[in-house]
Amino acid sequence: MNSSSNRPKIAILISGRGSNMQVILERVKDGSLPLDVVLVFSDKMQAQGLQIAKAAGIETETFSPSEFASFSDYEEKLVNVLKQAQAEWIICAGYMRIIKKNILTNFQGKILNIHPSLLPSFRGLNAQKQALDAGVKVAGCTVHFVNEEVDSGAIIAQAVVEVLEQDTLTDLTNRILKAEHETYWKAIKKVTLKD
Ligand code: GAR
Repeated sequence: MNSSSNRPKIAILISGRGSNMQVILERVKDGSLPLDVVLVFSDKMQAQGLQIAKAAGIETETFSPSEFASFSDYEEKLVNVLKQAQAEWIICAGYMRIIKKNILTNFQGKILNIHPSLLPSFRGLNAQKQALDAGVKVAGCTVHFVNEEVDSGAIIAQAVVEVLEQDTLTDLTNRILKAEHETYWKAIKKVTLKD
């Protein structure tokens, strides 16, 4: 990693598979996304995405809230790790924790998330199932700034996919995920480069 570069420095927060993270790393590598990924962090030690990041030569870190006396202590440690890595932007990519005060105040206006619904519809968990259950005819994903309210910050980008009559939850989830992969890196580029 070139720590002296003037490019924006991002840290990616994950909890699992890391396919959105992987696309971001690929776009950085092929030059479409001109920034530096200074850290990939997971709150789950077994997250598949950590292996992908390591294989790509990215610095990784993992610890979980259960190792700390309080969630606030966990976030305090995470802020220290993010600052140590010189992260300027926090990119949540399937990070299944609510971002609370410690991180919000230290990275105000610099935290992005991707959510698998067309916000403000279907906030929170199982957004794709919520969409199917509601019988909507279009679904999609939203990239937004993170604030103190879950899935409620200013919207940066959205992509729409069709919901088909015969869709299973897996069908719709995969269609939305494909849209996420197209959308997130472009939204990150737009926001970090104009800063
Ligand atoms: C993605 O669908 C992302 O939108 C969702 O988790 C999945 C992570 O997949 N995030 C949330 O639901 C956050 N509330 P990935 O690990 O393969 O990128």
